[in-house]
Order: sequence, then C-alpha cells, then structure tokens
Amino acid sequence: MMAAAFHDIGKIGTPDRILLKTSPLSDSEWLQMQQHADIGEKIMLSLGLKNAILVGKVIRHHHEHYDGSGYPDGLLGEDIPLPSRIITIVDSYDAMAEKRAYHQARSHEEIMEILHQETGKKHDPCLMSDFCRCIESSPLRKIYA
Ligand SMILES: [Fe+2]
Repeated sequence: MMAAAFHDIGKIGTPDRILLKTSPLSDSEWLQMQQHADIGEKIMLSLGLKNAILVGKVIRHHHEHYDGSGYPDGLLGEDIPLPSRIITIVDSYDAMAEKRAYHQARSHEEIMEILHQETGKKHDPCLMSDFCRCIESSPLRKIYA
C-alpha cells in the first residue's frame, strides 16, 4: 500500500520541463525521466522506515515490463516483485484515464483495449485477468464519455 501511494515519489527529482513537456521526450530527457524509479527507491531508503528496503524495491521496479523490456533493471516475469507488477497495471490504467500534458483522457473501453494489447509484454497475464474482473465492478473505475 505504501509503495503504491509513493511509487512516483522519485519524480520530485525530475525537472518540470520534462514532467510537463507536451511533445515527445528526447533520448536524454527519457533517460532522466527513467531515473525516477531509482531516485524513488533511494528516497524511501533514506527515510529509514520499517519495511523501507521492501517498499523501496517495489518502487524501484514499478516500470519493469513482464517481457523484460522495462526499466531500470530489465527484470523479467516473476523476477519483478508482485506489488510492482500490480502497480504497473493500475498505474497504466490511471495514466490513460487522466488528462495529462501530453494526451487527453481515454475512455474505459479504449484503456482496456490498450491494456489487453500490452498483456504479456508490459503486463503479467495472470494479474491482468484479475484486474479485468476487479475493474468492471470497481467504484473507482473511471468512466468518461
Ligand atoms: Fe513511475
């Protein structure tokens, strides 16, 4: 729960000119953006809280992809901590449902189609199956016209 709430805390180290950029990021900007996972883990460890090592690890790996193509360590499948794999799915849904500097909010149907396309690549297929069941009846489901 704590890792989910603070998964992007490392973005405090990312310049606003990158976070709020409306055009595609350059290679160097993208590398800077990716550092938020490592910075987030370091922030969590610096707090010295109970379970900081575990929470920091979950934060570090919330952008890993099931097929090994994610960052920062390119972990594959179940080598990615389970909470990180869950956060990846929920964060993806949330990011697409909200209007961002670089895209409009998408409908639930559009989001689910994209998530299904990413299953097995970005997302754990078993967890996606669970997510699909949960989101259909969730009061937190975002509904846009
Ligand atoms: Fe993130």
